[in-house]
Amino acid sequence: MKNIIIKNAAQIVTCSGFSKKRGKEMSNLHVIEDGAVIIEDGKIQSVGKNEEILKNVDVSKYEVIDAYGKAVLPGFVDSHTHFVFGGYRAEEFSMRLRGASYMEIMEKGGGIVSSVEKTRKASYEELIHLGKKRLDDMLSFGVTTVEGKSGYGLDEETEMKQLHVMKKLDEIHPIDIVKTYMEAHAVSQEYKGREDEFIDHIIENTLPKVAKENLAEFCDVFCEKNVFSVDQSRRLLLKAKELGMKVKIHADEITRLGGAELAAEIGAVSADHLLRASDEGILKMAQEGVVATLLPATAFSLKEEFARGRFMIDQNCAVALATDLNPGSCFTESIPLVIALATLYMNMTTEEAITAMTINGAAALGREKEIGSIDVGKKGDVIILEYPSYHFIPYHIGVSTVEKVIKDGKIVFDKSNR
Ligand code: NIG
Ligand code: FE
Repeated sequence: MKNIIIKNAAQIVTCSGFSKKRGKEMSNLHVIEDGAVIIEDGKIQSVGKNEEILKNVDVSKYEVIDAYGKAVLPGFVDSHTHFVFGGYRAEEFSMRLRGASYMEIMEKGGGIVSSVEKTRKASYEELIHLGKKRLDDMLSFGVTTVEGKSGYGLDEETEMKQLHVMKKLDEIHPIDIVKTYMEAHAVSQEYKGREDEFIDHIIENTLPKVAKENLAEFCDVFCEKNVFSVDQSRRLLLKAKELGMKVKIHADEITRLGGAELAAEIGAVSADHLLRASDEGILKMAQEGVVATLLPATAFSLKEEFARGRFMIDQNCAVALATDLNPGSCFTESIPLVIALATLYMNMTTEEAITAMTINGAAALGREKEIGSIDVGKKGDVIILEYPSYHFIPYHIGVSTVEKVIKDGKIVFDKSNR
């Protein structure tokens, strides 16, 4: 495989930077007009104006992509998904359309627990097959790194199975996978009504194994009324930190429990959802530099009010956007849908939404030094649009504008020959 030159691009939207972007910083995409990028050995070797980059370069040594009339961006980072699961919950969607709420369904034994039964039954091979299919769809939307959570096992065997499936998929699929251990996603049937004991059980058994075997970088918890309290979440996440893991929280999604405040208190890398986060919680997150990962497709799918993305950015938060792909509250891989909702309903600008899907997504995974922007030394993860500017991303509503995806310097998706 030859190294790659992308030349004559109408725009290189570099999103340049090696750390999360907060507040106003989110508006600057560092665009280079008439630009070129060279990717060597899977890494960005140079980026800049076409003439400068191409002078003194022997183009015959490269695979040359002419991006005339096209915009080039860093690959998207989907920093919050639950993409490894068995079975589906299509009927629950229809039940919700008839008026049942997400938590009612969960309390009656549907919801997460019903995916747990199906994921426990699914074989490793089946989960690989399903996971791969979902990753292929993500790739077509321009995603080059994805986070995936366990949490449909609620027992050691199945949680480990999910993490091993992600480990394997990371090896065999072009998309990079960041693994998160989330056994505290719901209380298992076996521990119903004994949440504290369930947390103790996790802390004493599976968590140390996951940390020791390096099976996950992050630990996450569903901090929610009738799921896990702030105290239980704190106890679990502090233990995970002690064991060297980074932490995330499903915070203030359905009720205002103080998850945002907890994230700031314990130094979580991100707090996610935040539909009901308080002003104070948001200010504390801004102060402590916790990334606010917003999942507008979930709010949309649950017919809930959107998180206050505009307010968070105005308070100097670093906001990331992600799909939350999962079998219940939000079954979608669609980046165009997330961007449509973020711009039209959360009042984020096009520039902020792109920052949120790239460098801030990377920061939500602690990978802002390696991915999320087109900067020299970072991974050669780049997408080429069918259109000349990044403004087409929200403008072509709900439709992917991605023509080519280059991952680690190789073309892994191309629809230009259709
Ligand atoms: O992020 N809120 C908790 N977890 C997922 C939903 C999981 C499910 O419904 O299966 C979420 O929305
Ligand atoms: Fe989630």
